[in-house]
Amino acid sequence: MHVKMRFSNMNSKTIQDQITYQKTVINENLRYFKPSTVKKQKTFLDEITLSLNNIPRSINPKFFYDNTGSKLFDEICSLPEYYLYNSEIEILNNIKKEIKLHIDSEIRLVELGSGSSIKTRILLDTLYNLQTSVEYFPIDISDILSFSTKELCNIYNDLKITGIIDTYENGLNFIEDYDNKPNLISFLGSSFGNFNHLEGSQFLKTISDMMKESDLFLIGFDLKKDKSILQNAYNDSKGITAKFNLNVLKRINTELNADFDLTKFSHHSVYNELDGRIEMYLKSLCAQTVKIPDVNIPINLLKDELIHTENSYKFSIPQIESKLEDADIGIKKIWCDSRNYFALVLGQKI
Ligand code: AVJ
Repeated sequence: MHVKMRFSNMNSKTIQDQITYQKTVINENLRYFKPSTVKKQKTFLDEITLSLNNIPRSINPKFFYDNTGSKLFDEICSLPEYYLYNSEIEILNNIKKEIKLHIDSEIRLVELGSGSSIKTRILLDTLYNLQTSVEYFPIDISDILSFSTKELCNIYNDLKITGIIDTYENGLNFIEDYDNKPNLISFLGSSFGNFNHLEGSQFLKTISDMMKESDLFLIGFDLKKDKSILQNAYNDSKGITAKFNLNVLKRINTELNADFDLTKFSHHSVYNELDGRIEMYLKSLCAQTVKIPDVNIPINLLKDELIHTENSYKFSIPQIESKLEDADIGIKKIWCDSRNYFALVLGQKI
């Protein structure tokens, strides 16, 4: 296993060496780097047709986040049932003072997934309390970066923002080659929960491989808890999570001209205790055939057939400890909220 992972890291490094980035300067505080040669990627159409025709059928959760999906996710975060958001904010606010004890030189914020969000601002404020100038390097594959960072520019008029529009791995390699300054790499919101076990360990190994001794890593994990609390968080009473889940079908209709009838599907989510994860599905309410015009294969769905749309893993503290240890990331501190619903972990390369 280890040999295989090393191999894949070496390969990606070789590929990375060939990426050249184009720099776009927006103003004196804001610039972006975007790869000038775009690697041939699988298209939305390719990925969707493949995963919808494979049994069991599935749709990758990364496709949730079109414009409407991102807005619906923000709405989810404001729901009382979706405790993840408030719990993480509570921790971030509480550790402002304590995090300083772990920072002994100027450090910049490198955020995996970008936001103009409250969370980013709490971290930036924390750094402003420690040092006179602050740099922010968001890494995000989508162009959403350009919107969210402009807002930050207005809030912090001397914040130096360098956006990297690329995958997390390429973006981190870019920063590693860029200079030697210490980085506080943040990966918040329990995004880690979307990875399966193998993807999760490969992700952590990638982080640890690119980290310097002076870098810090801040990562959020949703904790195991009472089943009903978990299930309510993914099955809210206002039906926003259902809308969020169904929206991916709407997106496939809009972008690929498919003919999903949204009234013939329902949102289904359940906590799988054995695997420690929330599983989300779209359930076909009747036998039906869906067509995507550009492909000739009709999608024949049975009554009650499930399309898997997301896993959201939940962790125990010992599981978190062993995952980080396996990736050679040393734990400096684990913070939890007052209800012990969520954990933020500060790590450093061993
Ligand atoms: C953005 C992956 C952290 O798994 O809780 C929220 C996405 N899905 N409600 C999560 C989500 C349904 C969310 N993450």
